[in-house]
Order: sequence, then structure tokens, then C-alpha cells
Amino acid sequence: MEAGTPAELSGVKAHQLAIQYLEPLLSPVALEPTGNLEAPWRIYLFGAGAIARLHAAAAKKLDRYQLFAADPSNEARESFSKAFPHAKVFEDAEVMLASSPAQDRDIVVVAVPPWLHHSAALASIRSKRHVLCEKPVALSQAELDDLLAAARNTGRHFGDCSVRFLCNDALGRAREIVSSGGIGSPYHARLVNRNPRIRPGIEFQPESKWFLDKTQAGGGISFDWGVYDLSMLFDVLRPVAVHVHHAYTAAPPTGADPPDCNITVESHVGAAMSLELENGATVALDFERASGFHGESQSILNVDGSTGGLSWEWCPPFENDSVQLMHYVDVAGKVDKRLEQFPAFGWDEVHGRPLLAFVDLVAGRDSVILPARRLAFNYAVLLAIYQCAADGKPIDVHLKS
Ligand SMILES: NC(=O)c1ccc[n+]([C@@H]2O[C@H](COP(=O)([O-])OP(=O)(O)OC[C@H]3O[C@@H](n4cnc5c(N)ncnc54)[C@H](O)[C@@H]3O)[C@@H](O)[C@H]2O)c1
Repeated sequence: MEAGTPAELSGVKAHQLAIQYLEPLLSPVALEPTGNLEAPWRIYLFGAGAIARLHAAAAKKLDRYQLFAADPSNEARESFSKAFPHAKVFEDAEVMLASSPAQDRDIVVVAVPPWLHHSAALASIRSKRHVLCEKPVALSQAELDDLLAAARNTGRHFGDCSVRFLCNDALGRAREIVSSGGIGSPYHARLVNRNPRIRPGIEFQPESKWFLDKTQAGGGISFDWGVYDLSMLFDVLRPVAVHVHHAYTAAPPTGADPPDCNITVESHVGAAMSLELENGATVALDFERASGFHGESQSILNVDGSTGGLSWEWCPPFENDSVQLMHYVDVAGKVDKRLEQFPAFGWDEVHGRPLLAFVDLVAGRDSVILPARRLAFNYAVLLAIYQCAADGKPIDVHLKS
């Protein structure tokens, strides 16, 4: 018998030898951290359009994942497959969801136009998978309540993408300054973002005309960007109630309006609100957001308090590779500006944030995905702005316990 053959070796030696021979074969798996030994994340994209491609790009940051996408449009499927050749692509989302039994690490991302969010999210929840829905999460409070109830019954997670801008360390620092009394008692905030010509469906992503149709989009700039505005500001101030005193919406016509298309969504929204904070403080909020109007671009964010003020950056691009937060205090009768800087982030991180944060949630890690009551509250405030603009009556929204 040849020396070193198994019959001649002790158990330990045989094991060591086996490892030595097998190591080159096993190394791609063995080198990965322990977490990777779990099943891969399976990401199912319900819709393969513009935002689905950005979710798919975000999935690349996961250690191990498989990608699926469904879209009835040939063009969308072809362009998706070209960008993500390893993805399994379906024409029918129901067929995709039924293609294999649900697993614990399955996530469906609802990336279709808003009028389809409810039916798509419901089908996805019923497939017993975790569901991340694009914003606006629904077209009505009833739709959202239905989705939250359905998700509760399956015990799977449900979240939305309004958290896209919560990848910003300046927000946590601003919250800390406010809650530790760094600006005294906050009494006023202003959040204004006016861009005269960036309407989706016209100047931005002109191929997606559904953005201009209220029956499909649910609303205009308020549902498109107001969602992020409130989610970002409320992440810092954490209001427990909002009173919408006055609101308006408008869609000023422009020479760039497509002649063959009836625009039924607003491109300018504003509201006078007051926020009731957990500590009882009342903060008057001037809110304005526009993607189409006749004037100058403007971008303002201030929180004013009895002993100080705050402003911070939250939307890329950032100058000098840093996000700036300015804390204003009174020193001997003069305004003293204290600059704090945080790591900058780009659009890739903004677009990737919802999926990666949702993965954190499903994996049991800290996550910025809004819990159901916050999601319902923020969404109710957006609806209250629309309602107040429509009938001129003030509306109160309370955070449910
Ligand atoms: N485009 C952006 O920059 C952006 C950013 C953030 C969020 N969103 C949100 O993402 C969602 C989708 O927007 P988009 O820009 O990707 O739109 P899009 O028009 O680029 O893509 C939507 C896709 O959904 C597909 N679709 C329609 N019915 C379907 C069905 N039954 N099953 C599967 N697919 C179907 C369409 O064929 C289309 O390819 C919207 O809720 C939007 O508000 C978009």
C-alpha cells in the first residue's frame, strides 16, 4: 500500500489531508464572512423601469443575492436584461412571484407607477415575502391601511422608499442638537425647494408620461418630492401631531407642456403647518416645493429656536466633499456660526438607501425604514395637505400610538 493512503492514516491526519486537497475548491465560500453562509438575498423587482434599475444596482452591494424582475413592457425587459444580464426576467409579475416558494430572505420591491402600488404590494405580501414599496406608498389612506394590515397578518416586513435621504449623518446630529436644547425651544422651521422646470414626465424622464396623470401618479410634486421633504424633516423633529392650517397646489402652464397630454397634477405645493413635538413645543412650519413655476430656483432649510438656530444640507451634490450643518448661537450679543461637517454622499447612495435599509430591517439590524405608525403618519400629513388645498379647511393629523 502506498504510504499516506487513507488506510494507513490516523483520523486527524486523514481529515487534515482531506482539507488540504479540498481547500482550493472550497476557498471561494470559505473566505466569505459567516453571514454569507446563509441563503442569498432574493430581490424581486415588480416593474423593471427607471427606478427598478437603481434598486438592482443597489442589490450589487449585498454580499450574495439573486435578482428577478417582471415587466409587461418588452422594451423595459430588454433594457433591464442588458444592464443586469444575470437577472431572471419575467413578463408577468404574478408568474415571477409564483416561480418558487417564498424564503425568509426574499424581498419584493414594488417599482411600478403609483396607481399599481396597492395591487402589486398586496400580491407581493400574499406571496409571503417582505415588501418594499416605492413612494408614494399608496393613492389613499384606505389603500395604505389595507397594505399595513395585510403585512401584519403575514408577519413579513413592509416599508416604503420615503427614507431615501436618511443616509445623512447631519440629520442625526441635528436631532441631537434640538433634543438636547442646543437651540432652546424650537418655534419655527422653513423648508423651501423651488425648481422652475424639473417636472417628471416633461423636463425629467419625459418618456414616463404617467407622472402627469393624477389617476396614475396620485398627485404631482407633493407625492414625488414632498414625501422626501417630510420624511427628512420629521426624522429630525419627530412631531407627534401636525396641524395643516392652509395649503395650496398649482400647475402653472408653460410653453414646454406636451400638447397631446392633459396635465392633472400639481407642480407647486405649499402649506402653513404647525408641528407639535414630543416635548410639547409647537413649531410653525412654512413648507414649499415646486418642480414647475415661473421664478427663481431656491433651496432653504432653517429651524429656529429661542437660543439658537440650525440649518443643514441634505440633497446632493455637496461642495467640498462634505455635508454641512450650521449651528447658530448668540455669543455676547452676536450670532456665532458653528460649522459641523459630515461625509458627503451621492445619488447612488440616495437611490440605494431604501433597499439596503430594508435589508437591514429584515436582517434584524438597526434600520431607517419607517415603522408602520410613522409611515402612516407621514403619509396622512401629505394627504392632509392635498385635502386642505382642495377644500380650504384646516386638518389635524396625530401620530397613533
Ligand atoms: N424615476 C425616478 O427617478 C424615481 C425615483 C424615486 C421613486 N420613483 C418611483 O418609482 C415608481 C416607478 O417609477 P419609474 O420612474 O421607475 O417609472 P417607469 O415609467 O420608468 O417604470 C415603470 C415600469 O412599470 C412597468 N409596469 C407597468 N405595469 C406593470 C405591471 N403590472 N407589472 C410589472 N411592471 C409593470 C412599466 O412597464 C414600466 O416599465 C413610481 O412609484 C415612482 O414614483 C421613481
